[in-house]
Amino acid sequence: MKVSVIGAGNVGGTLAQRIAESGLSDVVLVDIADGVPQGKGFDLADARSIIGNDCKVEGTTDYSKISGSKVVVVTAGLPRQPGMSREDLVAKNAATIKKVLSEVVKYASDTILLIVTNPLDILTNIALKTSGFEPNRVIGMGGVLDSSRFANLIAEELNVSINDVKALVIGAHGQGMIPLVSQSSVSGKTLSEVLPKEKVDALVEDTVKRGAQIVACLGKGSAYYAPSAAAFSMVKAILKDEKKVVPASVLLSGQYGLTDVCIGVPVCLGTSGIEEIIELPLTDEEKKQLIDSAESIRSTLTNLL
Ligand code: LAC
Repeated sequence: MKVSVIGAGNVGGTLAQRIAESGLSDVVLVDIADGVPQGKGFDLADARSIIGNDCKVEGTTDYSKISGSKVVVVTAGLPRQPGMSREDLVAKNAATIKKVLSEVVKYASDTILLIVTNPLDILTNIALKTSGFEPNRVIGMGGVLDSSRFANLIAEELNVSINDVKALVIGAHGQGMIPLVSQSSVSGKTLSEVLPKEKVDALVEDTVKRGAQIVACLGKGSAYYAPSAAAFSMVKAILKDEKKVVPASVLLSGQYGLTDVCIGVPVCLGTSGIEEIIELPLTDEEKKQLIDSAESIRSTLTNLL
């Protein structure tokens, strides 16, 4: 098995490391900045003897090396800088992703695409249209990261094990994300049972702002440990055919009353990519938030496609 990671920056490099260290599959790390993918590839491969697995790692500028990949993860593009929203990246990163996809279609036309570059849902919609791939093979990583952040903040607030917290965030990976209080729980108790409303509201707000908080702290670039962990868990679910239910940005065709837009909802991930879209019962307020979030994705897209 082979996984290719396009973009050898912080997210791509850390994802390649997670895949290589887990022994999940061979990894090809591709970037146009000559020297960077090769250097990171040599460095990751040099660790194999210490880690003790035979998976191969290669860094390259040559896209033909991605041929035969089960999954291609796209992380290429500019990260946010302090004061920027994810949506501010759209013009530059949409152009980058179109170039990347023309190479992916040329060399790995049967692959499953996992989009990580921001603005996530916009670029997942563009990837679906420009690749011509079936909708089950075009997936955006946003909800797993946002849900993990929500879970972490809940666990810290209550001083409980992260393993006892279930948290789910749907909608766009951006200002329109929807931390689903109705679907989040601690040891089987709903959030509203264990925390007063003001605390729940604060946790929701902190989850939405977490990415920007990290950008402001770093001063240059955005988060990459949790984003790469989120992408890794999705790649693993596909390679190991886990049939795991996670939130991801996918094309909806009637689910949640939405059509012809990629946005974050719970899906089942397995060897064919998206194997099922799960329709959860949402409150009227949550349904309205999801529709508003989809509208905002659509309005940005009309200017781009
Ligand atoms: C974040 C960026 C990577 O949420 O979207 O940190």
